[in-house]
Amino acid sequence: MKQVEVQIPKIFSPLLTSSYRNKFFYGGRAGGKSYAFADCLLILGRQKKLFIACLREIQNSMKDSVYKLLCDRISFYGLDDYAVTDAKIENKITGTRFVFKGLRNQDSQKIKSLEGVDIAWIEEAQTITRKSWSILEPTIRKDGSEIWISMNREEENDPLWVLVAANPDERTLVVKVNYYDNPFCPEEIKLQAKKCKETSLADYNHIWLGEPLAQGDYKLINSELIQKARVAKISSSDSPLIIGLDIARAGSDRTVFCFRKGRYCFMLKEVRGFNTVQVADMATFFIKEYNPAKLFLDLGNSGAGVYDILIDRGYGRIVKGINFGGKAIMEDRYYNKRAEMWDSVNKWLQSELPVQIPDDDELAEELRSINRVKVAQDRLQLEDKEELKKRIGRSPDKADALALTFAEPVYDKGRVETYGSDYVCLEDLFRNATVKDNSW
Ligand SMILES: Nc1ncnc2c1ncn2[C@@H]1O[C@H](COP(=O)(O)OP(=O)(O)OP(=O)(O)O)[C@@H](O)[C@H]1O
Ligand SMILES: [Mg+2]
Repeated sequence: MKQVEVQIPKIFSPLLTSSYRNKFFYGGRAGGKSYAFADCLLILGRQKKLFIACLREIQNSMKDSVYKLLCDRISFYGLDDYAVTDAKIENKITGTRFVFKGLRNQDSQKIKSLEGVDIAWIEEAQTITRKSWSILEPTIRKDGSEIWISMNREEENDPLWVLVAANPDERTLVVKVNYYDNPFCPEEIKLQAKKCKETSLADYNHIWLGEPLAQGDYKLINSELIQKARVAKISSSDSPLIIGLDIARAGSDRTVFCFRKGRYCFMLKEVRGFNTVQVADMATFFIKEYNPAKLFLDLGNSGAGVYDILIDRGYGRIVKGINFGGKAIMEDRYYNKRAEMWDSVNKWLQSELPVQIPDDDELAEELRSINRVKVAQDRLQLEDKEELKKRIGRSPDKADALALTFAEPVYDKGRVETYGSDYVCLEDLFRNATVKDNSW
């Protein structure tokens, strides 16, 4: 086998030289965690036959995994003893093999295939849920097997932090590593870190030093409020029904309808792979069946097409297109419509009277994950959707659909009624005068 010289930053030497059940490395951006893990696994896999599982919470495709990094390192060192196929990496001499899996897609049956694993690498471990860990931990059961964990802490309560690193047992090694521990850290990255330190110390501590976000510091929505709303018991509401419709964007095929009546958000309907006509048909069905006061839909992506169809079908009074990037109603307070709508969800969750959302893990995760941007002067700005997507592995369609139900205030009659328009009858006008409830 070809001899190669591999340099691993000293701080990572326990990966090769000590045995621990859990090897937990955490810290900020560019600490060298991913590279060191990849290099060490490649070295170990050349020494003897190992079964290595590269795991993360969500893996929709191989490009989400560390597969590409391992391939790059193999070609960088010219390790021609490794054979790379579409979904696997194998060592032709020792028989070592790497597999790549998302834990969220595993059930207790599928995960059995991991029982012979020697080393499991959990990358981006801040996103691992308690449930995933509870399935994985007993599965990695071979004598001497190790779990390597790399994490950039997100919040104080990241499940794996709490379960593994916060109070480590004698079989767990916990090491903090930041960019200044990484001798290979590119100058450009160091400059970015320096700049960040000058602009916002809080950002620097989180992004570059790996400190968890303080609750309420960057997070828009407090996790406890979300939990409270999940378990609330409201069973009906007289408020007008509002439907929020978030339409599939390129690269995702998920369209979500969210149904809310005042304090009671009672249903999410998710469809996949629908084209604009099918989405419009479904919206038409819901309008007829549930008689909403308003249906707000996202005009981005193929939303404009759905909007046109619904207008053509005569639903102009109910359907309103919303542009997430457009102007907020309260422009002096919100950077754009998106920030305004999400903050409305936040305020709604904070209201004194209980509010209810569907008991849905994905919705809760999406609501919990959104961060505000600190530098946005006095107007609230949310982090870019792409950033959020990187963290949770999908776009927050369910939460966006809920946010859309707050696009504009809807009064009890659900529409502005101007005298003389075809839509208003005399009865409506009189009834209006007695309406007191303007909840939205
Ligand atoms: N062994 C190495 N050889 C060459 N460059 C390296 C090596 N290790 C790390 N680097 C450089 O340091 C950068 C950061 O390393 P890496 O991506 O492994 O850090 P990380 O801790 O995983 O950070 P992140 O939180 O951004 O995922 C890499 O992009 C690469 O430029
Ligand atoms: Mg990394």
